[in-house]
Amino acid sequence: LAPKVVATRVLPQHAQARLKEQDFELVQWPEDSLMPRDKLLSDIKGAEGLLCVLGDKIDKELLEAAGPNLKVVTTMSVGYDHIDLATAKKNNIKVGYTPDVLTDATADLTVLLTLAAARKMKQGIRAAENGEWREWRPNWLCGYQFAGKTLGMVGMGRIGQAVANRLRAFGVNRVLYWGRSEKPELKGQAEFASMDQLLKESDYVVACCALTPETKELFDYEAFKKMKDTAIFANSARGAVVKQEDLVRALQENLIAGAGLDVTTPEPLPTDHPLFKLDNCVILPHIGSATIEAREVMGDICIDNITSGLKNEKLRCELNY
Ligand code: GLV
Ligand code: GLV
Repeated sequence: LAPKVVATRVLPQHAQARLKEQDFELVQWPEDSLMPRDKLLSDIKGAEGLLCVLGDKIDKELLEAAGPNLKVVTTMSVGYDHIDLATAKKNNIKVGYTPDVLTDATADLTVLLTLAAARKMKQGIRAAENGEWREWRPNWLCGYQFAGKTLGMVGMGRIGQAVANRLRAFGVNRVLYWGRSEKPELKGQAEFASMDQLLKESDYVVACCALTPETKELFDYEAFKKMKDTAIFANSARGAVVKQEDLVRALQENLIAGAGLDVTTPEPLPTDHPLFKLDNCVILPHIGSATIEAREVMGDICIDNITSGLKNEKLRCELNY
């Protein structure tokens, strides 16, 4: 009997074609929407593999609904805060994810957000389209440049380092970082700092960290108050690293100059949310890894993770947890 695998989404084109060729019994949600919870809870029964995305809640209830056959869960993301690892561990379930292959895409988008906020791109586009664009004006829509500035990276993993490398090429001449641990390999390129020092001294504060108990709501009113009033904040990590009502207040009170967000709480952010009304806040709909290149390989890795997991072999990208 072919093992049953549940996939909660349709994959990018080439990966999807390859998924269909596998010799397991594929139960796939065919629509371009989240798989309804009750459908997932019933389809997962007896499954040996689960291919999911970050909008799926892979909690105790779901993992236990699968029954004892579930061997492998792979998420098409680098983040895995939506998976209950304690329950997965208890049930000997391997967990796969898709690091590395989305680092460039996500770092590019993080630079875009930072630059968009620093150069008032939202007001600029609106002005150009609205007829507010008159003659060239010396004092109009002036933002901030990167050259000669200090970057503060909160989270200096693969993505954080890729962002720092990009911004060094833009002329940033000092990089501070805060994270779980100091990285000796970054000596001479970046300085390990306390959160306090990073907030006070950085012109750009960029969050690229995993969501953990230590980083949850790390950016609250006190944190924004410590930042320079000319500082730009960008977040391509998870919405929950920010205490969002405090960010609204900080932007309204001009405690910081602007923000660029690819992640919010909740997602999607309701269109009437106060953050959308702020000129100095640029918001994108969680598209950090959204390049054709990255998404195809992410799909491919998920298929490899599933096929290895079904055979009780080490996964192509296995989370050590
Ligand atoms: C996206 O947020 C990811 O974790 O890959
Ligand atoms: C994850 O955040 C990474 O740095 O790859």
